Amino acid sequence: MAYRIFLQTFGCQMNEYDSELVRSLLKARGFAFTEDQEEADVILMNTCAIREHAHNRVFSHLAKLKTLKRQRNLVVGVLGCMAQNLKTELTETQPLVDVLVGPDGYRRLPDLLISAIEHQAKGLAVDLSEYETYEQILPDRAAGVNAWIAVMRGCDNFCTFCVVPYTRGRERSRNPEGIIEEAQELAGRGYKQITLLGQNVNSYQYGTWDFARLITAVADVPGIQRVRFTSPHPKDFPPALLDAVAGHPHICRQIHLPVQSGNNRVLAGMGRCYTRKEYVGLVDNIRRRADIALSTDIISGFCGETENEYMDTYGLVQEIEYHSAFIFKYSERKNTIAARKYPDDVPEPVKSQRVTRLVELQKTISVRKNMALLGETVHVLVEGNAKKSRDQWMGHTESNVTVVWEKNHTATQPGDFVSIQVTDATASTLYGTPVSPFPLKGVEKRNSLVSKCLGP
Ligand code: SAH
Ligand code: SF4
Ligand code: F3S
Repeated sequence: MAYRIFLQTFGCQMNEYDSELVRSLLKARGFAFTEDQEEADVILMNTCAIREHAHNRVFSHLAKLKTLKRQRNLVVGVLGCMAQNLKTELTETQPLVDVLVGPDGYRRLPDLLISAIEHQAKGLAVDLSEYETYEQILPDRAAGVNAWIAVMRGCDNFCTFCVVPYTRGRERSRNPEGIIEEAQELAGRGYKQITLLGQNVNSYQYGTWDFARLITAVADVPGIQRVRFTSPHPKDFPPALLDAVAGHPHICRQIHLPVQSGNNRVLAGMGRCYTRKEYVGLVDNIRRRADIALSTDIISGFCGETENEYMDTYGLVQEIEYHSAFIFKYSERKNTIAARKYPDDVPEPVKSQRVTRLVELQKTISVRKNMALLGETVHVLVEGNAKKSRDQWMGHTESNVTVVWEKNHTATQPGDFVSIQVTDATASTLYGTPVSPFPLKGVEKRNSLVSKCLGP
């Protein structure tokens, strides 16, 4: 009988994508997958190392597995960024880990698991590669509406706070042919939306192909209605990419543009290579071109951040009025430039209250933008059941706002586009009722009301 694997994924969309690659590589070698940890021969954790919290989650999961492992034969594997980052720490302090494989080692995983299961051999594949892009490996995805495609791997930016350049190694871009074929395969299986992934998609380069050309080619694939991408780096946002976002009917008018801080001294300390003025200039440029929804990432409490410097970030959020923002407490990561150069000196309670104040501010902005849509009609890709109730559908607007409505129309299917009249709104969700024509089978219609939910 095939060995059964229980695979759990932590971390970002890139890790979700990698888990799909891992499923594909293991299925090709005869492994089976189970949703039930109790009946698994192998438990794999695909891990994240971005912040302390992510680490702690993995360690607490490992602690739980100790008991399971005492009761029966069980192989435990740690994959992903934490495996790469903590290789010696994990092998020395966690004897229960049998196999440790970093993001560039997945082709070796099937052999390592077989040795671990059949010969109780420990396995390690944590070498980073300058070339591995998993060309020719088609990720194993369940049927659906949304898919991710990694277009590049690694990161060369070395923002001083960030562990990713160490866990994922040097930047490398995938052959566009393979990416477009993957998009065609997805369209053939009924997928409607693709998100192109890279730590800094603006650095995508393959021969004469840059990211603007690539995203346009993906958006031209018949059947693919919406294309998004994450993330571009503000230091080098190419005009051709803005042209594509503003002009292509299948590229969503929505950009995730991580700012991290609104203060020049902090930005310099983070090694972000842009000033506040340059960032605001880019935002102005983007908004001058079209109604493009913006979201961001912010770190609060970075080394030496004073209250005044923090207030510069607060003021920037007030000024820009993002659609949404992910706000993180600075978490020192071993061996990063910031960990080596600067003391992590903002007290924990100060970091926490700075995050809370920004979260509250962003909430009021998001509520205001969403409330401005009351009574308007938004166009939504139907993605599946709402989280809270199977009697409701859930989807997103082009600007990536979640929409929830009652399933009172039997003809609707995931993958349809529907028009929803907004009747209620919170910071994160619009609620509404379907309006005719209904539903729009597989056809995206530009939402002329997007401007309603944008800033000044
Ligand atoms: N490559 C992506 C970011 C990936 S990490 C980009 O540059 O857009 C996602 C977010 O995690 C970052 O934007 C940053 O806000 C946050 N982050 C990264 N390292 C962190 C750290 N050490 N502490 C707190 N937040 C961090
Ligand atoms: Fe980390 Fe900066 Fe690279 Fe993003 S661009 S992954 S924040 S080093
Ligand atoms: Fe992603 Fe976490 Fe690695 S955010 S790139 S899984 S450190």
